This record gives sequence, C-alpha cells and structure tokens, in this order.
Amino acid sequence: VTQYGKLADIYDYLVGSVDYNEWLDYIEAIVRKYGYKVSTVADLACGTGNTTLPFAQRGYRVTGVDLSGEMLGIAREKAKEQGLSAEFLEQNMCELSLPEPVDLVTCYHDGLNYIVEPADLARVFRGVNGNLKPGGMFIFDLVNVHKLNRIHGGTTFVDEENMSLIWETFYYQDRDVWEIQLTGFIKKGDLYEKFREIHQEKGYTTEEVIGMLEAAGLELLDIYEAYCFEKATEKTYRKFYVVRKGN
Ligand SMILES: C[S@@+](CC[C@H](N)C(=O)[O-])C[C@H]1O[C@@H](n2cnc3c(N)ncnc32)[C@H](O)[C@@H]1O
Repeated sequence: VTQYGKLADIYDYLVGSVDYNEWLDYIEAIVRKYGYKVSTVADLACGTGNTTLPFAQRGYRVTGVDLSGEMLGIAREKAKEQGLSAEFLEQNMCELSLPEPVDLVTCYHDGLNYIVEPADLARVFRGVNGNLKPGGMFIFDLVNVHKLNRIHGGTTFVDEENMSLIWETFYYQDRDVWEIQLTGFIKKGDLYEKFREIHQEKGYTTEEVIGMLEAAGLELLDIYEAYCFEKATEKTYRKFYVVRKGN
C-alpha cells in the first residue's frame, strides 16, 4: 500500500487551512497545566514538518519521525529555507528508536489512526515509553473514523489548474477502518502525472486505548476535546490523550 509518496508534493496545499501554531499553543498549555518543563521533543508522523518546525521556531530541540522519505524530503527543505534546525528520522514509529530520550513526544493529525493493527499501536506505545525521560509526556490525537466517513464518505474531487484529485472512500464497519483510494493528476510541464495511493485509518475505542497505554507502562492523565480542556465524551470527533511515562 503506497501512502504519502506522490501525495507529498501537494500535502501542504491540502492542509493549508490547518493552524499549526494554534496546535502548538494548545500543546504548550497542556504541558503548563501539568507543571512540566520541556526542552527536547520527538514529533511522530511528522510528515512535511508542519508539526515539527513550529517547535524549532520556539526554541525546542526537536526530532521529526516519519515513514515517508518523500514527506521528510519536503520537511528538510522547509527547515533549510526557514533557517531552522530540526532532525528528521525516516523510521516506522512502531519501531521507535530515538538517539536519546526526550521530554515530550507528540503525534498529531490522525497520525496514530494510520496504525491499523492494534498490536502495532501497542508497539508504538511501548516504544514511546522507552524513549521518554522520567516524567516525560506524550500528547496525541485520535479521530473517530466512523464520523470521518460520514463527513467525507462517497466520492469527492478537487479540480484545479495544477492538479485534480479524486477520493473514493470505503468504510469497513467490522474493523472500524476507513479507506481512501486516491487518484491524482499533478501538472508537470505541459502534461499531468497520474498517481494512485490507498490510505487506511482505523478507529480505536477509548477503552482499547486505555488498555494499551496501561500495558505499555504509560499513565493516562486526561482525555480532552480538541483544543480545549473539556473532557472528551463518546461524541467527541477528535480526542487529545495526555499521557505520562509511568514510574
Ligand atoms: C496526516 S499526516 C500528518 C503529518 C503532520 N503531523 C501534520 O500534521 O501535518 C500522517 C503522516 O503519518 C505518517 N505515517 C503513517 N504511518 C506511519 C508509521 N507507521 N510510522 C511513521 N509515520 C507514519 C505518514 O507518512 C504521514 O506523513
């Protein structure tokens, strides 16, 4: 299954409306709320660095981790252009291995929904626990993919001067997995280059996540509605889990 290969070229266009500085404001507010101090960060599923570079901008020492060499290529280019210092590692987050333990691990924008095997999500959690400093925090989001399907189900497209994209989506209720079969055309000179990618995202119940966090030795502090400090409910679309390395 190809993911985030050719799509890397247009990913930043697709997330153009996401305010990553606001996301980092929220992460900093959570860290302050728990009275913790952070100087080193690992950002998992960092993609093109949208979640990584704001840390560098604010003076943190940050490492971005992603599976896609294409996404990381763009992240490295952006860091260079903006004169920011950040490390980028091409790594499967199921086998996380950082050069040294960090104070904070983040994973944002459905990154963990891309882990469609529960056993693999458990491996991510164990890896995070092993790569955090004592007292270190892990803040991540997970979305309700069933709702995602209701919002974006069926076939949708965008057609613009430099690209056309067609998304065909399928929802597998038995596994709570949402699949996007993406066909794209990107302008290269006078011609359009065609590509296809298949993306899958899986929904996890709060109970499942809590069980896996505990088994990995991580301590759950809270689960919030996105971008506020309201407790998440079963109706919440995007939940933020706030977790600390266990003793
Ligand atoms: C929706 S993007 C999020 C990127 C970035 N955090 C942002 O908010 O713009 C999801 C990213 O997860 C990465 N990814 C998916 N599975 C992964 C895995 N097992 N290990 C590391 N990265 C993974 C993809 O390559 C992709 O860059």
